[in-house]
Amino acid sequence: RTVAVVLAGGVGRRVGLNTPKQLLEIGGKTILEHTLALFNGAPEIDEILVLMTPGFTGEVERLVERNGYRKVTGVLEGGETRSETTWRALRALGQGECDVLLHDAVRPLTEPRIISDCVAALRVHPAVEVAIPSSDTLVVVSRGPHGETVRDIPDRAGLRRVQTPQCFRLSVIREAYERAFADPAFGDRPPTDDCGVVLRYLPDVPIHVVPGSERNMKVTHPVDLFIADQLLRLAAAEAPAPPDEALREAMAGRTLVVLGGS
Ligand code: CTP
Repeated sequence: RTVAVVLAGGVGRRVGLNTPKQLLEIGGKTILEHTLALFNGAPEIDEILVLMTPGFTGEVERLVERNGYRKVTGVLEGGETRSETTWRALRALGQGECDVLLHDAVRPLTEPRIISDCVAALRVHPAVEVAIPSSDTLVVVSRGPHGETVRDIPDRAGLRRVQTPQCFRLSVIREAYERAFADPAFGDRPPTDDCGVVLRYLPDVPIHVVPGSERNMKVTHPVDLFIADQLLRLAAAEAPAPPDEALREAMAGRTLVVLGGS
């Protein structure tokens, strides 16, 4: 059995509206509906569990009913932090072994290819993470008498930006979380994702990396709503965003000065 856990328990402070951002409508339906449609339509997924912001589970039940997302077997309230939301989901899944894909509800543009690559990788590896190279240079900073200063510039080739889904055998992620929530120091510096919990509490478990994509963006800031809306509108019009090669060709025609050209 392969279960998708859709983590929708946040409030979206950085977007800054009164409604949790996953309930905002972009590209013709709510962000959460786009995400649920993706997993409901994925042949590799048997079941979907949704963890929603407290006070909004009724909204989710209604939209599941309206759209006929038949794989959704439960809608529960999330916790105060993302880790607490995951922990609630893991407890709700019970003891039987299964494969679990933990996904941010606010990544509505995940390609079906990523889901199938993750499920295939889980047959071989106990933990799987989706990541892409960083096109920006990343620096380590610290605060001191000169304000924020750069302390280190790690080699970009060895760095990745992490996306979701993050995928595990249920017994592995449950054990990591049991240890985390038994550790009084966990709450002081909780990891921002689920692989971080495995890395900290089960360091011997290898976490295999599957390539993600630039389009698998997380709607975090207001500008992300605009970008995701454009991409989802194109997809809804059955004119999905063109592949990179087509984008290159289209832009080549608009070049004003061709360097080295005659
Ligand atoms: N999430 C969750 N439970 C929480 C906090 C976050 O399930 N207590 C989910 C969010 O709903 C989102 C995903 O984790 O789908 C990624 O988190 P993020 O983008 O940080 O969402 P928010 O916490 O809602 O945003 P913000 O940090 O701006 O408040």
